[in-house]
Amino acid sequence: MKIIAIANQKGGVAKTTTTLNIGAGLEKSGKKVLFVDLDPQASLSDAVGVVIEDLEENETVYGILKDNIDPMSIIQETEMGIDIIPSNINLSAADLTLGGMMARERLLLDGLSQLKGYDIVLIDCPPALSLLTINAFTAADTVYIPVQPEMMGVKGVKLLLRTIENMKRHLNPKLTVGGVIITLYEPTLKVVKSCMKILEEQFGDTIFKTRIRKNAALKEAPIFRQSIFDYEINSNGAQDYGQLIAEIIEREQL
Ligand SMILES: Nc1ncnc2c1ncn2[C@@H]1O[C@H](COP(=O)(O)OP(=O)(O)O)[C@@H](O)[C@H]1O
Ligand SMILES: [Mg+2]
Repeated sequence: MKIIAIANQKGGVAKTTTTLNIGAGLEKSGKKVLFVDLDPQASLSDAVGVVIEDLEENETVYGILKDNIDPMSIIQETEMGIDIIPSNINLSAADLTLGGMMARERLLLDGLSQLKGYDIVLIDCPPALSLLTINAFTAADTVYIPVQPEMMGVKGVKLLLRTIENMKRHLNPKLTVGGVIITLYEPTLKVVKSCMKILEEQFGDTIFKTRIRKNAALKEAPIFRQSIFDYEINSNGAQDYGQLIAEIIEREQL
């Protein structure tokens, strides 16, 4: 079982979109995939069709962290065909409630170590370098970093990579940076071109070759509880995520 965290402390860079479509693509290629929604906004849970408003704390990932609930007991099967440990807004209290707990950075790791039967676990992280994200980094084998090529984004990636280095030193020596994923890519914009140059100088081969172009179908698909592959297989979005998944399968030797 490989655990992959999708993280960037910046919001709106396509973490959730990337988690969803990578998961859907890997499931179609025959892997058994589990989503873990670690964002209190719960947009991944919502996108796969979980009714998040109705969930008790102990029916979400919060129960694993706070009350040591067995993760196998709260996994939901979804319309989309991919299992999920959902989240909801209750999780926004996690930083406060978990902050004083013993081994607070390892709560998710302890929980997920009880999982059985999955090839790939994808953790959708919140837009913050919070205790929740630290828990994801402690549990994960690999981090993927979606980045929208714009100036503020580059600085953010540097900070994130420094945090991951610290994580390796103190909490999870086996953690690797699986790659930077360029998202919301608009090839004709000048600012995007100059930003890509800086990103390539700084992060080189860490960046996946595939760039995920801006594509309206990627925005629409979750409204219909569908991955891009079911919603619009002929879209640029399906083509780009398909190509990215091929790269991931090769990099991770899945
Ligand atoms: N390649 C893309 N083209 C167009 N819209 C996108 C693309 N990727 C993501 N989006 C949209 O951008 C917004 C932010 O994406 P999201 O995945 O929710 O980011 P995050 O999880 O990092 O906050 C969402 O409305 C999403 O549908
Ligand atoms: Mg998100």
